[in-house]
Amino acid sequence: MVTETKAKIIYRELLKEDLVVIRLVPETGMPEYQTGQFLTIGLPIPAEKKIVRRAYSIASHAENRDYFEFVIRWVRKPLPGRVTTELFYSSVGDEVYLGDPSGTALQISDTLHNDEKDNRRVICVGGGTGLAPFIAFAKHFHDTNDKREVIVLHGASYVDELSYKRFLTDLELESEKRGKEEWNFRYRAAISRPKEFFNRSWNGHVGRVESFFKVDKKTGLSPIDEMAGEEITPENSIIYICGYQGTIDGVIDSTASRGFVTEHEKKSDGSFGIKFESYG
Ligand SMILES: Cc1cc2nc3c(=O)[nH]c(=O)nc-3n(C[C@H](O)[C@H](O)[C@H](O)COP(=O)(O)OP(=O)(O)OC[C@H]3O[C@@H](n4cnc5c(N)ncnc54)[C@H](O)[C@@H]3O)c2cc1C
Ligand SMILES: NC(=O)c1ccc[n+]([C@@H]2O[C@H](COP(=O)([O-])OP(=O)(O)OC[C@H]3O[C@@H](n4cnc5c(N)ncnc54)[C@H](OP(=O)(O)O)[C@@H]3O)[C@@H](O)[C@H]2O)c1
Repeated sequence: MVTETKAKIIYRELLKEDLVVIRLVPETGMPEYQTGQFLTIGLPIPAEKKIVRRAYSIASHAENRDYFEFVIRWVRKPLPGRVTTELFYSSVGDEVYLGDPSGTALQISDTLHNDEKDNRRVICVGGGTGLAPFIAFAKHFHDTNDKREVIVLHGASYVDELSYKRFLTDLELESEKRGKEEWNFRYRAAISRPKEFFNRSWNGHVGRVESFFKVDKKTGLSPIDEMAGEEITPENSIIYICGYQGTIDGVIDSTASRGFVTEHEKKSDGSFGIKFESYG
């Protein structure tokens, strides 16, 4: 049975007018949960005289017993979203309703189909606020001293929507400093509207985030292969995706010829190389 508790907003950081990071503390204490899960935030909507609930990916990791963190977009078009509008008018100290953490789509694979340890390279693909579960992944792998290679790819329309750029860049710098045997982490971002004036300073990867997987016909390699230093295959890599269905389909299409299949369509031996959660 799904239970619900009240939770207090303890932190609120407006990244831009319609993008916020918030932290919540449940009044009943932090429940046990799995990194990569989501939960519902409920708020009373005065016009509807009821509590409306929406799902949000947890951007903090399960080892963090202090608070839940979220990164949330204020939906304003075609009409103001019910919950996000209330949330954007809320303040530190205000209360919301929290459901139980749930969802298995983005639970981290630690064991292979044959019960061996899953030591594959972890490639995380986040579109917009779909980065949230991969912030949780990065913190989890870091704090549990996991030695797997981790690559986080983030796609955004505008440079000021690269919500965790500094945090992820610092994790990569730490990897360079400590050495890949100790902490093996890289982060790359893609900007999908490079020609817009606001993105004029961007000199990184351009296009939607799934273009990291597009194979160049001449070289037979994709940007992600170049980063990995080898052709990615389901034997050496597992891909996690959170974002629009177009992002998910783009990655699936580009990697199918390499033998990547999703967890929903496992191979006959039970193996798979892609897990995803769609914006739906
Ligand atoms: C598993 C999961 C995880 C998620 N994680 C995140 C996350 O980490 N961060 C995040 O920002 N979001 C996340 N979402 C999305 C979130 O759950 C909400 O869907 C989103 O915040 C919008 O909620 P809302 O109540 O503000 O909008 P709603 O009121 O539900 O509106 C939804 C859409 O309908 C439109 N609309 C509203 N009323 C009307 C009307 N009368 N006529 C026509 N159109 C209308 C709105 O403009 C909007 O486009 C997640 C969703 C899922 C399923
Ligand atoms: N897990 C979930 O279900 C989940 C998680 C987070 C957010 N959401 C909801 O999803 C909505 C938008 O999220 P957002 O604001 O984070 O995204 P966003 O910032 O609008 O877009 C992020 C990136 O996705 C690209 N994109 C847009 N439409 C696409 C499509 N159809 N296929 C592939 N890529 C596409 C954008 O490219 P362009 O610049 O070309 O548009 C941009 O590069 C919000 O309503 C949010 O509440 C759901």
